[in-house]
Amino acid sequence: MKSRGEKIASLTAYDYPMTKLLDECGVPLLLVGDSLGMVVLGYPNTTLVTMAEMEHHTRAASRAKPRALLGADLPFHAYDNVTEAVANARQLVAAGAEFVKAEGGREILQQVRAIIADGIPFMGHIGMLPQHVLEEGGKYSIKGRDDAGHAKLLDDAAVLAEAGAFAVVLELVTPPVAKEITGRFPFATIGIGSGTDCDGQILVTPDLIGTFPWFTPKFVKQELNAAEQMRAAIEKWKGTI
Ligand code: KIV
Repeated sequence: MKSRGEKIASLTAYDYPMTKLLDECGVPLLLVGDSLGMVVLGYPNTTLVTMAEMEHHTRAASRAKPRALLGADLPFHAYDNVTEAVANARQLVAAGAEFVKAEGGREILQQVRAIIADGIPFMGHIGMLPQHVLEEGGKYSIKGRDDAGHAKLLDDAAVLAEAGAFAVVLELVTPPVAKEITGRFPFATIGIGSGTDCDGQILVTPDLIGTFPWFTPKFVKQELNAAEQMRAAIEKWKGTI
């Protein structure tokens, strides 16, 4: 799709019905993201998500047998070293993932190389790394604004390209840097809060459709207020019994 200049629409899915629905809408790239922890499991951030939870939800999503490419996140501390990274990536594949994603660049290079050498397609994730939000004082901040941040993003992108990542999520990367990475490297860039010049865009589906109304990131244009519609339907039904 990158070589054809086609924009890559990507959304998160955590269960059977949403995977089936998104697939029926022709979304070509689906991710069982560890955002699962926040928008489904009620954790305050993604750092508490476990492999068991990721496997459970990956199995549910994969039962929809989507035509879309379906991937899953390696959760926090599931890829601290090469052995764990490969073993956990294999477990997600056994649960139905066709690729795995992990957060970071140069600091996880050995793990990325080992996963790809094991025959598992790998998606990178650079810029704001939600699994490291606590180290950042709890703030989700934009990356690539200063020279050091810009240089780090280019270095991380270069090592992921060299290792063979087929795609890289750019989260909260300043738009000019996201554009530069998109133009410079062969992998597909999938942006989130990183401007319009990426090869594709990903959103956390509940942010787009309004099923998690208690928090919506600033960069998201919510297309549906599903929570409001659900409240209205439930109240109407309550009045009929
Ligand atoms: O966990 C997630 O949903 C993600 C995407 C937003 C890229 O990592």
